[in-house]
Amino acid sequence: MNITVFLGAPGSGKGTQAKQLSEKFGFVHLSTGDMLRSAIKQQLPVGLKAKTFMDQGNLVPDSVMIELIEETLSSVPDDTNVILDGFPRTVPQAQALDSKPKTKVSQAVNFLVPENVLVPRLTGRRVCPNCGESFHLVFIPPTKKDTCNKCSTTLIQRSDDTEEVVRRRLEVFRTQNEGLVSYFSGHNKLINLNADKAVNTIQDELLKILKQ
Ligand code: AP5
Repeated sequence: MNITVFLGAPGSGKGTQAKQLSEKFGFVHLSTGDMLRSAIKQQLPVGLKAKTFMDQGNLVPDSVMIELIEETLSSVPDDTNVILDGFPRTVPQAQALDSKPKTKVSQAVNFLVPENVLVPRLTGRRVCPNCGESFHLVFIPPTKKDTCNKCSTTLIQRSDDTEEVVRRRLEVFRTQNEGLVSYFSGHNKLINLNADKAVNTIQDELLKILKQ
């Protein structure tokens, strides 16, 4: 398995890029945030455990997340190009991936966006509760107001995209990120990416990185 992890603050564009790369170029996109939201919707035990942490903008405990990702990756064929979006978020999560030959990380792309850009990106985000497509009220508006371009479902705001929870998520990110960046840098796997650009420009740069 060839695993690329996307690191970066909430709102840095990891999900937007990973989704497009999977649709256009066949990468398998695994988002732990999406997995947890789906588990909450289905009222699965892992979702019930995670919900309070997510609603408060805190991280779900490592033990829960490591079990979830190990179970998911165990069913992915060996010859797959995987993009992990939102995992790892802590050094123990990174070590858990690297501890097994099959799930060793190949590279970590670090999405860099100034913090003053992140809050408006997140509070303006609207998502489709049916197909998961993500939009932005100003930067990436849907063609028809409040309506998903793909499946015509009414768009919603994620419950953790309110300004108060966004600020807490950014605070949590700051406490974990330095260690994670040092970890991958120390293993010569870190690639910094200026992600404060247009979506298509970032995508072109990512494709070059992923094809290396
Ligand atoms: P998760 O869903 O992973 O949230 P996140 O990391 O906070 O990331 P986001 O989805 O908010 O941001 P993104 O970088 O994907 O940005 P996006 O592309 O959507 O996690 C949610 C929660 O689950 C966590 O808080 C935690 O509780 C829990 N969790 C998940 N994984 C965990 C783990 N491993 N360990 C512990 N807990 C875990 O873009 C954002 C907005 O900007 C969109 O509106 C988009 O349209 C717009 N946009 C994107 N790119 C651009 C651009 N280039 N220019 C302008 N606008 C843009």
